[in-house]
Amino acid sequence: MTGKLVKSLLCISTVALLLAGCGKSEEVGGTIPPQPVARERASSEAAAPAAEEKKEEAAPAAEAPKAEEPAPAASGGGNVGVSMPTKDLQRWNQDGINIRDQLQEAGYEVDLQFASNDVQTQIAQIENMINNGCGCLVVAAIDSESLGDVLGKAKSAGISVVSYDRLIMGTDAVTYYATFDNYKVGTVQGTYVKDTLDLDNADGPFNIEFTAGDPGDNNAGFFFNGAYDVLKPYIDEGKLVVKSGEQTFEAVATAAWASETAQARAEKILTANYSGEDLDVWLCSNDSTAFGVENALEAVYKGKYPIVTGQDCDVANVKNMLAGKQAMSVFKDTRTLASKTVEMVDAIMKGSEAPINDTKTYDNGTGVIPSFLCDPVFADANNYKALLIDSGYYSESDLQ
Ligand code: BGC
Repeated sequence: MTGKLVKSLLCISTVALLLAGCGKSEEVGGTIPPQPVARERASSEAAAPAAEEKKEEAAPAAEAPKAEEPAPAASGGGNVGVSMPTKDLQRWNQDGINIRDQLQEAGYEVDLQFASNDVQTQIAQIENMINNGCGCLVVAAIDSESLGDVLGKAKSAGISVVSYDRLIMGTDAVTYYATFDNYKVGTVQGTYVKDTLDLDNADGPFNIEFTAGDPGDNNAGFFFNGAYDVLKPYIDEGKLVVKSGEQTFEAVATAAWASETAQARAEKILTANYSGEDLDVWLCSNDSTAFGVENALEAVYKGKYPIVTGQDCDVANVKNMLAGKQAMSVFKDTRTLASKTVEMVDAIMKGSEAPINDTKTYDNGTGVIPSFLCDPVFADANNYKALLIDSGYYSESDLQ
């Protein structure tokens, strides 16, 4: 984890926090009236105790000064609890800080907490936020199934919940869901492999292996299925061969999305199956797992370097793309997701209409949660400049 932590700290010190509107998917956005939970809030707020001092994990390296931002459209007011899974992965640092800064710009007080990837810590932090009288919660769950009880308390206290990036399952306390189109992330990865190997015309066979994400993260199945659905016909006809035989989500999942776990499994598979043979593709669901696989390739593999896919455009992975060690990633602009989330919170707090553009995809077991899906974008060494540098997401020096 140390490498990823270092990379997180490096990035946080350099990411410019720009406000950005949602891209393509915003155009199809609609609205629904606020949910009853939001409307019932007012009475429970009166008795709220004063907020305790914030207890974030050790702060990362100094944040870069913010680039010029437009003034917020309307000033809000009230306290918002923001619960992020961990500081160990770059993206949750960015997400947390983007949401906090944008909420503060809109006039809210923010209690931002990171839970060290520990479910009990996340539950305790959310409980504190409820006890401290927050008016709304934004939660990126560590484990999608484990927050039912604590969010039940939030609901009883009249506090609305925005499920952030990962859908929280099995509770009717979730008001809205803000995320990217997770299935599309997988199809972008699968389509890249299909096109690069020209699977419709080439004879093959090509060897492929898969690495997916954390089984406790509801997104992980969407990513895997999106990619697998594109590639399955070629596996079925024998043009793509999985020599390890591991090709179900359960078999290729990676607990906590940990680079080290992905690396250990990849080293085993490479040693057992690819000592005298080339591997053509390693389909990884995200950058932290791709990073582990890339380390494994360097450590134990001598054949032709395979296509490796990823997601997030983490600094270390963009560097690897530029060095030819990772073919592509999927860019999810966390500034965009943060600003959609802030719009949702603002609407909840004011009892107005929140932006949504999907009312059918994400059922958390208690019904479909009204969602806003941002658009994930293909990234590689050819378009990273326009995507990441010109947009101010990274500076060139971040990637050196
Ligand atoms: C996010 C990904 C991220 C992964 C690991 C998922 O829920 O959607 O962007 O790579 O978690 O943190």
